[in-house]
Amino acid sequence: MKTDLFTTAREAMTHAYAPYSKFPVGAALLTDDGRVFSGANIEVASYPEGWCAETTALGHYVMAGGGRIMEICVVAEKMDRITPCGGCRQRLAEFADADTKLHMCDQNGIVETVTMGDILPFGFKGDTLK
Ligand code: THU
Repeated sequence: MKTDLFTTAREAMTHAYAPYSKFPVGAALLTDDGRVFSGANIEVASYPEGWCAETTALGHYVMAGGGRIMEICVVAEKMDRITPCGGCRQRLAEFADADTKLHMCDQNGIVETVTMGDILPFGFKGDTLK
């Protein structure tokens, strides 16, 4: 399953629209019932309006009804072991758990796995806002 998730993320990366940074990124999320949602980064000429691969994947996941996220895979064409940016860590943490796995990849597959808790310790949770 891990390899499949990586393959899905790498395939998603081919759909990146990154004419400004020329830094394609792909992401894939696996839910506990086996569904996979993927996305690529999408840039805009007004640079701050673009968004990350993880955010595209989360949009697909939410629109499909959500669910428990078990694993996340992110891959970049020009960087080994990319991890989600700060904003995407917060967005992913909204739907994932501290023990959700985050796979870091090179072009051939997963090279190291950490957890959401590892990459966003002491993250802000919205519990008190409810
Ligand atoms: N990017 C992602 O898609 N995910 C990340 O976690 C880091 C950065 C994208 C945003 C932008 O399109 C490009 O990479 C360069 O920053």
